[in-house]
Amino acid sequence: MSATTQILNLNRYDPSGPLPEGRLGTMLADRQRHAGASSVLVYAQPVEMVRGEGVWLHGADGRRYLDTYNNVPSVGHCHPKVAEAIARQAATLTTHTRYLNGVVEAYAEKLLATYPAELSNLVMTCSGTEANDLAMRIAASGSGRQGFIVTRAAYHGNSSAVNEISPSAWKSRQPGAHVRLVSAPAGKDPGPSFAAEVAEAAASLQAAGFGTAALVVDSIFSSDGIYADPAGFIAPAVAAVRAAGGLFIADEVQPGFGRTGAALWGFQRHGVTPDIVTMGKPMGNGFPMAGVVTRPELLAGFCEETGYFNTFGGNPVAAAAGRAVLEVIEEEGLIENARSTGAYFLDGLADLASRHARIGGVRGAGLFIGLDFVDAEGAPDTPQTNAVINALKDEGILIGAAGLYGNTLKIRPPLPFTTENADQFLTTLAGILAR
Ligand SMILES: Cc1ncc(COP(=O)(O)O)c(C=O)c1O
Repeated sequence: MSATTQILNLNRYDPSGPLPEGRLGTMLADRQRHAGASSVLVYAQPVEMVRGEGVWLHGADGRRYLDTYNNVPSVGHCHPKVAEAIARQAATLTTHTRYLNGVVEAYAEKLLATYPAELSNLVMTCSGTEANDLAMRIAASGSGRQGFIVTRAAYHGNSSAVNEISPSAWKSRQPGAHVRLVSAPAGKDPGPSFAAEVAEAAASLQAAGFGTAALVVDSIFSSDGIYADPAGFIAPAVAAVRAAGGLFIADEVQPGFGRTGAALWGFQRHGVTPDIVTMGKPMGNGFPMAGVVTRPELLAGFCEETGYFNTFGGNPVAAAAGRAVLEVIEEEGLIENARSTGAYFLDGLADLASRHARIGGVRGAGLFIGLDFVDAEGAPDTPQTNAVINALKDEGILIGAAGLYGNTLKIRPPLPFTTENADQFLTTLAGILAR
């Protein structure tokens, strides 16, 4: 059996080796001195980036890299409309949320209009972690229960409470007594087995005296290895958690803002309405912002128990950035592009897989695609995945890994990605595999 991999160790730079010559070596030494053990750089030989534009990142080495990894700059790196909105608002007013401000209210109105009508309250935060932390507190208060169910390689954030439901970040620890892990929904028809595991986990939490506050799911199962199909497979698990008195929290930090090519939100592909939704990463296209959307009565119940205030969450600059992001998604047809270019890309990767036995599977939705590498026996091949990631970088393409064993290429480019960009990836990967 292959060893499981901690999410931050995937393709991680090892600082214990000799430093390269020149500026890169000096910068690596500086980073190590400043950040110490908390430094997480990627690639065997890290890259210094100086500029971004559309689907491209420009390195200090003078090279242009095709970005097939980053989902924060979802509408394109340094999109001029978003950059201009941030600059204009920063030069006009930036303050906390205890004053009224038209930009903030207009954004809340526009964002909430994209949600099912019952999800009509929004709390803005600064990071996905903060959003999930608040979502967990609302779920515990609304359900009167304390337990949480998540997938085995889930990642939901870095605070003390959220880390408890982020097993892919654990190194030498076991789940807390109030947490149950279920398998990622792999395979052709994962709905029934996923629901059965969730029901079993809820029964176990009940027996342990915690009960189930919520099932927390990233509906594209990003860190678990990307599981998208068949659309709708989450619904039975949501029914199971509700039958146990728990709520459903959809973590849209990864699939949200159009990436799946089907709708703005990942949960919409599954035909479910969550009790609580969290958003982050692409929300401000690089401006740090995140949020929680829920039903008014759930939020009211929580606010009766605890005062909640977030100094920077929902400030006017964040609102200006967020509004520009929503406008760009509409104006540039990015959901449709994610659908059509994603389908083209997936077809090309499936064709490559049919010619290479070491590609164990390809799957995804829109511009979120996973590709597994396996060894001759069909077992997860993490070293080959790392070798391909570094070889792609040497040929000017940025990519990362995911999955319990770190053997899944996580293909997740900015949404203005074109079929020409996909062709560049396909040709380059085919060349690397041929070697
Ligand atoms: C699914 C998911 N949820 C939440 C988070 C946490 O977001 P942040 O890093 O903004 O705190 C992440 C970050 O990678 C994520 O992938």
